Amino acid sequence: MAPKINHGEGRTRSSLSLIVLIGLCCFFYVLGAWQRSGFGKGDSIALQITKLAECTDIQNLNFETRHSGLGSLSDLGDSETKTFEPCDDHYTDYTPCQDQNRAMTYPQDNMIYRERHCPTDEEKLSCLIPAPKGYVAPFPWPKSRDYVPYANVPYKSLTVEKAVQNWVHHEGNVFRFPGGGTQFPQGADKYIDQLASVIPIDNGTVRTALDTGCGVASWGAYLFKKNVLAMSFAPRDSHEAQVQFALERGVPAVIGVLGSIELPYPSRAFDMAHCSRCLIPWGANDGVYMMEVDRVLRPGGYWVLSGPPINWKVNFQVWKCTKEDIEEEQR
Ligand SMILES: *[C@@H]1O[C@H](CO)[C@@H](O)[C@H](O)[C@H]1NC(C)=O
Repeated sequence: MAPKINHGEGRTRSSLSLIVLIGLCCFFYVLGAWQRSGFGKGDSIALQITKLAECTDIQNLNFETRHSGLGSLSDLGDSETKTFEPCDDHYTDYTPCQDQNRAMTYPQDNMIYRERHCPTDEEKLSCLIPAPKGYVAPFPWPKSRDYVPYANVPYKSLTVEKAVQNWVHHEGNVFRFPGGGTQFPQGADKYIDQLASVIPIDNGTVRTALDTGCGVASWGAYLFKKNVLAMSFAPRDSHEAQVQFALERGVPAVIGVLGSIELPYPSRAFDMAHCSRCLIPWGANDGVYMMEVDRVLRPGGYWVLSGPPINWKVNFQVWKCTKEDIEEEQR
């Protein structure tokens, strides 16, 4: 008998839970319908927030930082505000890790002296680098691609030194950058179009590029048009202020060289690397410079080396090199 009774009780229990389940379903259905009708509590909160946002004076927003896990900043050191005095005027162009006097204490082979050499703690300045006299806010892009206020980078040597190559002209109180370069006196646009005829620069295959020995970075400046983002670098050397010009123009650039240490970029970061007569001795040191370019190029990336045809049979006497030197360069 016992199993039978159990069976009966079981049936009663399951029909009871069925009723409860249906009841709950109905309850939540009605609740949902009620909220959706616009009178529910959730909805009224939403309406309230919408109303608040529409209103122009929101006064109760609190922008104080909320996390204090590490203690507030003032707990870290003494809470007095430190003020720094301006450095002497002759520090206008001071770049701590690219100081010419320090550089000259390092070996010149492999461009080691042109790499970053930073001051020791005792040598560090604790003053504010002053802007050049008369410094004004740079022009907004795209005007900045072509014009830089003279007062911001008051150095004319490139306008003379590279006059034929059309890098930069000095015109009154501005520098004008016609988009020329060593290998593209007729302008970067034309040059980039020539590259685009052999490399898929136009269709999104190349999106990032590295310009080694960039000059005033006109190549990078004009690649923006093709949706290519170029990082340019050049050393701080006799070509006065080249990277400074690039930065004032709003073109990404750093002071740097291919020397004895890796470039500060991760491997496979670039779709294209470019050297137009950039004076990097690609054949030297068992090809270590090429290996570094290979490291930062992604597989299938492009390396562009451009220069004029080496008409060495005519030129070697003028260049004061031996036939063997020129042959080596050609190789
Ligand atoms: C871009 O052009 C190159 C060369 O013609 C081709 O190999 C590549 O598939 C193209 N990429 C796209 C995204 O169209």
